[in-house]
Amino acid sequence: MLEPTFLTETQFLNQGDLISEIEAGLLTSSASISPKFLYDNLGSHLFTAITLLPEYYPTKTENLIFKKNSFEISEALGLDKGLIDLGAGNCLKAESLFSSLKPSFYTAIDFSLDYLKEILPPLQNKYPHIPMFGIGMDFSRNLKLPAEISTLRNNIFYPGSSIGNFNIDDAEYLLKQVHFELNGGGLLIGVDLMKGDKILLNAYDDPLKLTAAFNLNILRVVNSLIHSNFNVADFNHHIKVNHSLQRVELYLEVLRDITVNWGDKTRKFKRGELIHTENSHKYTPESIKNLLVSSGFKSFTTWTDPNNYFLLIYAI
Ligand code: AVI
Repeated sequence: MLEPTFLTETQFLNQGDLISEIEAGLLTSSASISPKFLYDNLGSHLFTAITLLPEYYPTKTENLIFKKNSFEISEALGLDKGLIDLGAGNCLKAESLFSSLKPSFYTAIDFSLDYLKEILPPLQNKYPHIPMFGIGMDFSRNLKLPAEISTLRNNIFYPGSSIGNFNIDDAEYLLKQVHFELNGGGLLIGVDLMKGDKILLNAYDDPLKLTAAFNLNILRVVNSLIHSNFNVADFNHHIKVNHSLQRVELYLEVLRDITVNWGDKTRKFKRGELIHTENSHKYTPESIKNLLVSSGFKSFTTWTDPNNYFLLIYAI
């Protein structure tokens, strides 16, 4: 059985840094937890389930754009370059490009190395002619590709509007690093466009409560990392559409006065208090192009869907 190459976790994910980051977020007056902690193995499975919901339009819409424009997309990207997938998750989006793009190798990068270890081996077996690498990396801090990958000609793939989970300054910081890592290739990025409240509320507070489970699971991830005693039953999933900042905001609402402990630390929460867990920024075609220009990109090819819900951009 052909195996993908996994690059060691300690090199790219520093447990001490992650713990300090969680503690700092919990100990401020408006508590927050970074959205990257949504993605342990269970969180990644829950997100995959969300993408199957009829209400969660981004994945379906982006897939439609891939399918309708596969020839033009592969023409723009060029054949036989490496494909680096940022936040690869279940790798399905990248896989949908394999037949038209014929990548010379495939690198899947994700915060959850456990999930990649589940997903990548069967994919490698299905495509034995494409050498595959798996890297567990917190690229929200630094995107530093190992030399064996960064020296090859790469296209970087960042689908699903995951860039929307970064605040604008952090998004620019990441995109500048992406631009630096391109070695004769470009960036294929998917971004969600701003739309009416009703569609957003259904997508981020679905009636089956999968997004609620996905959001609440972050407390279990935190418990396992810092050994805290959050009780999921003390919280509710809560969302806001913030028009002035053009984003959907996810929170966990505290249902009763509680005290959470870990190590020698304590945090009291009052009933009604909110822990901020995620922003999902929605762009306009102009605002995303401006961001890409300020990150160093100069030329763009774009594709959208008939509703203008989502935008796919190849930027070089
Ligand atoms: C991964 N990311 C682009 C998703 C989004 O839509 O912002 C995460 C998500 N959060 C709630 N539902 C999905």
